[in-house]
Amino acid sequence: MTGTVAVTGVTGFIGKHIVDNLLSRGFTVRALTRTAHKPSTNTLAWIQGALEDQDSLAELVSGVEYVVHCAGQVRGHNEQTFTNCNVTGSIRLMQAAKESGSCKRFLFISSLAARYPELSWYANSKYVAEQKLSTMASTISLGIFRPTAVYGPGDKELKPLFSWLLRGVLPRLGTPEARLSFLHVNDLAEAVSQWLIAGQSPVHPYELCDGVTGGYNWKRLQEIGAAVRNGRVRLIGIPLPLLKLIADVSMLSSYLARKEPMLTHSKIRELTHQDWSASNKSLSEYINWFPKISLEHALREGLF
Ligand SMILES: NC(=O)c1ccc[n+]([C@@H]2O[C@H](COP(=O)([O-])OP(=O)(O)OC[C@H]3O[C@@H](n4cnc5c(N)ncnc54)[C@H](OP(=O)(O)O)[C@@H]3O)[C@@H](O)[C@H]2O)c1
Repeated sequence: MTGTVAVTGVTGFIGKHIVDNLLSRGFTVRALTRTAHKPSTNTLAWIQGALEDQDSLAELVSGVEYVVHCAGQVRGHNEQTFTNCNVTGSIRLMQAAKESGSCKRFLFISSLAARYPELSWYANSKYVAEQKLSTMASTISLGIFRPTAVYGPGDKELKPLFSWLLRGVLPRLGTPEARLSFLHVNDLAEAVSQWLIAGQSPVHPYELCDGVTGGYNWKRLQEIGAAVRNGRVRLIGIPLPLLKLIADVSMLSSYLARKEPMLTHSKIRELTHQDWSASNKSLSEYINWFPKISLEHALREGLF
């Protein structure tokens, strides 16, 4: 397969897997990086820059047929932090893609959170970015992926939950009835590559999960953990006031460490939402993509 893809977010968890998949399929990649010079190869060119730097974005998309926009702000202490990167940064990248004159397809890695923009700063920023990109895309074919919680090698957010589960403790956030869903990063990366080579489609967001209809509730996660470790799993509900207290401590320690916090009151509204089940129906019908890795299989095989 031939074609050059500009990819953002490659130094992060998901972006790395996307690039590995693209390279294995024969694509050439131009990857944006904010870190110091990385050595390029014949098939992977590193472009130093950032979403805030229009010149570097112009260089990134120069001559490419495709853009996969995976960079994103996933943690932050206020709304502006998310807006600056996820909305304004995405607009800048689309502008560069349009001006390149070569880009035919642009895939935006949004989030299932965008389904409920009212829940969090993060969710709203992804939703607004989707709207802005849809308005701007014009002759570029735009795709919007809304993956649910993604896990796999290199992930730092869900790994602790699964590690605890396999040690026999499952901390529950939100109500016992809440529906959750998950997606292995390899399945997401495969969907990205397949989308790039698919034909035209109407612009609408595609949800992605591991294909378990209705998702998981906490009890089901407990059962899976017990089956995999072949032993008891204790499900421990974390009361909302305690979760908020942990968020306050996290905000303070992040402030002192000059880092952006993951757990905030805004994030808690998202994490404790009742229904994060998702459906692959639209995407499967469009690109014939079906996830291969179930959560139980991943836990058994240590694929996280
Ligand atoms: N992980 C999930 O469960 C999940 C679920 C749904 C959607 N998503 C979306 O998937 C994308 C990747 O998530 P992830 O989990 O891989 O996050 P991650 O590990 O934090 O990676 C984020 C990536 O974005 C880059 N980035 C952030 N701000 C940037 C900027 N201003 N300019 C250039 N690059 C910038 C980071 O670069 P540095 O390395 O320089 O910081 C990093 O490469 C995000 O858009 C996220 O919203 C994630």
